[in-house]
Amino acid sequence: MFKPYYRLRRLRRCPQIRNMVRETVLCRDDFIFPLFVIAGKNIVNPISSMPGHSQLSVDRLIPEVKDVWKHGIQSVLLFGIPEHKDAVGSDATSDKGIIAQAIRAIKDAVPEMYVVSDVCFCEYTDHGHCGPLKNGEVDNDATLELLVKQVLVQARSGVDMVAPSGMMDGMIAAIREGLDESGFTHIPIMSYAAKYASGFYGPFRVAAQSAPQFGDRKGYQMDPANSNEAMREVEQDIEEGADIIMIKPAMAYLDVIYRVKTQYLMPTAAYQVSGEFSMIKAAAERGWIDHDRIMLETLTCIKRAGADIIITYFAKEVADKL
Ligand code: PBG
Repeated sequence: MFKPYYRLRRLRRCPQIRNMVRETVLCRDDFIFPLFVIAGKNIVNPISSMPGHSQLSVDRLIPEVKDVWKHGIQSVLLFGIPEHKDAVGSDATSDKGIIAQAIRAIKDAVPEMYVVSDVCFCEYTDHGHCGPLKNGEVDNDATLELLVKQVLVQARSGVDMVAPSGMMDGMIAAIREGLDESGFTHIPIMSYAAKYASGFYGPFRVAAQSAPQFGDRKGYQMDPANSNEAMREVEQDIEEGADIIMIKPAMAYLDVIYRVKTQYLMPTAAYQVSGEFSMIKAAAERGWIDHDRIMLETLTCIKRAGADIIITYFAKEVADKL
């Protein structure tokens, strides 16, 4: 009988030794929990494709943020759904807008919570694109001007970190300069540097009421087929002053996470997006997969690939398992 000399199974024999040699361990500090805040009062609109998640008005958001903190999750990422949408997304650039209200309310009620805000216009424009249009296309440079106004509203409201997600060229430099000129040199930028034009955003667009009313986002978000281009996107954002680099979605883009982390050694975030969450929830509901096992496995693998930070709708649930 052939006798292997080297036996890798020796270190897999019991939990104790497996625990000792485990290379990747999740902890609560890894996670950011996304929240949808909607204009109005006393609103809790459950999002049917995202069990456990709802659109919340500011008053109902506060108990939820307290609950997130109780779970040991120290950071939330905010998306706003305004009362009125228009061609330029005015609500996002108003100090009275939904996101400004939400940030102030959270920093008032739970000051320790690290509040990150999405910086983009698709939730605020009536056409659902990520900036103002010119001849049916998003006008890149006009969008940059508005993005600066948007981050300054968020900064004045007390946001801890901003996360631009619109994939406009030059957005990081514009935002960094805008923040610095107004004295917000301490606010970091987490850039959605490599954000793909992905079908996995479907449930989010229903949740955030941000689906484009015509066309798609392929004119600014990346082609899922490309990885070299992701490196150029990331490199440009680092040069422009991004503090954290994000790759999005996560599970289908682990190679991009790995490549970016290995090449640039930057603090790297991955966004396990709505569709990834919904697929797991739906299959688990049908009894086809083990919910907790798949939740932990996917998150562990995203971290193993190189993510230091994971934005995930599972943050509260996974915290209970750690
Ligand atoms: C754009 C934005 C999107 C997501 C986060 N920021 C959607 C899009 O590009 O259409 C998607 C997140 C998710 O699917 O969970 N502001």
